[in-house]
Amino acid sequence: MLNPRLDDLPGYPFARLRDLLGSVASAANIAPLVMSIGEPQHAPPAFVAEILAKSADGWGKYPLLRGTPDFRRAVEGWLTRRFSLPQGFITADENILPVAGTREAIYMFATIAISRKEDGPRPLVLVPNPLYHVYAGAAQMAGADPVFVPAARETGFLPDYLALPDEIWARTALVYLCAPANPQGVLASKDYLTALLAKVVAHDAILAVDECYSEIYDVEKPVGALEACAGLDGQRGGADASHALDHLVVFNSLSKRSSSPGLRSGFIAGGRRLIAAFAKLRDFASSATPLPIIAAATELWRDEVHVEASRARYRAKFDFAEAALSPQFGPVRPAGGFFLWLDVKKAGLGDGEAAARRLWQRAAIRTLPGAYLCPEDKTAPGADFLRVALVHDEPLLAEALPRFAAALAD
Ligand SMILES: Cc1ncc(COP(=O)(O)O)c(C=O)c1O
Repeated sequence: MLNPRLDDLPGYPFARLRDLLGSVASAANIAPLVMSIGEPQHAPPAFVAEILAKSADGWGKYPLLRGTPDFRRAVEGWLTRRFSLPQGFITADENILPVAGTREAIYMFATIAISRKEDGPRPLVLVPNPLYHVYAGAAQMAGADPVFVPAARETGFLPDYLALPDEIWARTALVYLCAPANPQGVLASKDYLTALLAKVVAHDAILAVDECYSEIYDVEKPVGALEACAGLDGQRGGADASHALDHLVVFNSLSKRSSSPGLRSGFIAGGRRLIAAFAKLRDFASSATPLPIIAAATELWRDEVHVEASRARYRAKFDFAEAALSPQFGPVRPAGGFFLWLDVKKAGLGDGEAAARRLWQRAAIRTLPGAYLCPEDKTAPGADFLRVALVHDEPLLAEALPRFAAALAD
């Protein structure tokens, strides 16, 4: 009666964590600290509450799925400034749509990106491994097969999609990429993005880049996929930029950039035909973002002051992490995002599950075994790792990280 593909969905990482730690008592007399979930804890700027209050009459109106022209213009301006795009490369009216957080958009996008020939083999969707579980779930529920491509140390912690054989590429409809990468914290270079985009264009597939960590970085400002796309113009033998844009969408969100996961507000931007098709699907399937939220989101995309302040705080947390953990783990600072991706096996601590159990037992700290961000099999490329979210306020982290290190030290 139910769609059998539901049974193929990967295990939800936090359900697996509950199973792992359910029978393990946490250290007595220590308040538990949840470092397993990447929920930003910095306060959103005060103007968010003010705009929500001022726009309260909007709660009584049906919002439009395309949001307001002002919202789309704010995003157009942000993307153009942030990624140095040529004026008019993307426009508010043709290339941008608001979404209710990126999770649902990332999921739903697969529905328009995948078409299946009745008699042919199932289309393929390339996903990184480890991954944000939604990529694989989206592929499966849209009738495709996910291809899990390792993003481990040997490939610079990014998936080496270009190395896949032609038979795989010939069946590939959609490629998901997370950059900066959750959980590994690496950035994709412009060359990586350019080459991937050219490959996707050559195979008439679509590249969907999840950039929701783009504004949290240490030193180097992450390059965006739209930026790589715009750079294709004038390259010898390269695909022309406007043609390549027809094969590209990016997702971004206020959840991490503006520490506002509760707003449920993000956007999708990309090629005109893709955005029009997505808007058509959303007319049937989506809930539009309420007007007060659209008003607050518009101002958040126009303001960089709070983003810079938040980034500075994350850098201070990377400093704490480095001081507490690098004696045992070597370099731990992520280039982007707010997760530590600790190779616990290399540090002689067994696998990620063993380290997570030990931290809970000895220090009441909850972390996520890397294997839980991979499909369930023993050779998971994340198995030797532990993901640790550096989201809490500085005093809490300054106190917790030495406890973290001590729990793993002996
Ligand atoms: C890699 C990645 N993509 C997308 C999301 C979804 O974020 P949101 O729906 O809040 O925009 C998350 C949230 O944890 C994430 O880690």
